[in-house]
Amino acid sequence: MTKEILILPGDGIGQEVTSSAKEILDFLIVEHGLDFKVTEMEAGGTAYDKFGSPLPENVLDKAKQSDAVLFGAVGGPKWDNLDWDNRPEHALLSLRKELELFANLRPAFLFNELASASPIKDHIIKNLDILIVRELTGGIYFGEPRAIVEDKSPSYAFNTMIYNENEIKRIAKVAFESAQKRNGKLCSVEKANVLEVSKFWRAIVSDMAKDYPDVELSHQLADNTAMQLVLNPNQYDVIVSSNLFGDILSDIAATLSGSIGMLPSASLNSSAQGMYEPCHGSAPDIAGMDIANPLAMIASLAMALRYSLDQKDLAIKIDNAIKEFIAQGYRTKDISTDEEYVKTSEVASILIGILKNG
Ligand code: IPM
Ligand code: MG
Repeated sequence: MTKEILILPGDGIGQEVTSSAKEILDFLIVEHGLDFKVTEMEAGGTAYDKFGSPLPENVLDKAKQSDAVLFGAVGGPKWDNLDWDNRPEHALLSLRKELELFANLRPAFLFNELASASPIKDHIIKNLDILIVRELTGGIYFGEPRAIVEDKSPSYAFNTMIYNENEIKRIAKVAFESAQKRNGKLCSVEKANVLEVSKFWRAIVSDMAKDYPDVELSHQLADNTAMQLVLNPNQYDVIVSSNLFGDILSDIAATLSGSIGMLPSASLNSSAQGMYEPCHGSAPDIAGMDIANPLAMIASLAMALRYSLDQKDLAIKIDNAIKEFIAQGYRTKDISTDEEYVKTSEVASILIGILKNG
């Protein structure tokens, strides 16, 4: 069966980094005779400028029919003052919700050669390898009711943090199974000392632990996890959390590794359809300068090959090629410690060279 891949470069450096990933993808398709059909469309502010919507209907339809969506990044100051429905971020949240991409996998790992780029001392950060499993289609991001009420005095605003048991069970299952495939440790993070929704979350995750006797489960309060991630990140293997706490914790985890330009992510639904995006944003300040780091996007392509495209061996090849790229001393501007660096547009051909040799 032909696998459909949709590329949505989006805004800012999204354009450059997806073009590097596409070079690698095109190479793999020819080299390995892959039955892939690749389509490229607009999303985010770029789509708003051209079509008056950050996520035109035909783009959403195409995404729904695709096995994997490679998503660059969206947003920029140019579109900051639009109303919410037209904002580039809305495209991202709609894609997550419409494709039911409830499981967001955000690995945070350190290439030991790059330890000096981390804001954390080497001995604390060495060998960092964490997976954050973030719930992505529920919680306070989507909870109803929600409103800003301006016709009352005092005016007020509210959101609803809500999870039903099925939503918690399906994300916890992904987290337990990920822990089984990794080092067998799972830390579930919430605020059970304050929030009903968190107490409920903790009870359900605790109850599920009996089905995973090989996983060591712990529970932690989100504020403590924020601190522990900085003090002693290597205590973690897999962390599972809600949409909001997972958002915050994954930024901390990503920063530990020194460059957010290295970290990929996958957002999956229950039929292994997925959207794959780098953890970094659209970085409008460096857009078009050929200095962005495309490795996070390329590693996201590897995750797509692994989780949605049945090509685990090729995923491993890409991951190894990225390791080799770093080991051979190649550095993009964000991780370079001197004046010399590899341009965005040069990265893919160096990696292809490594892939050909290895
Ligand atoms: C992320 C981002 C998004 C989020 C924004 C851009 C809506 O911060 O993917 O982590 O909050 O989920
Ligand atoms: Mg975030």
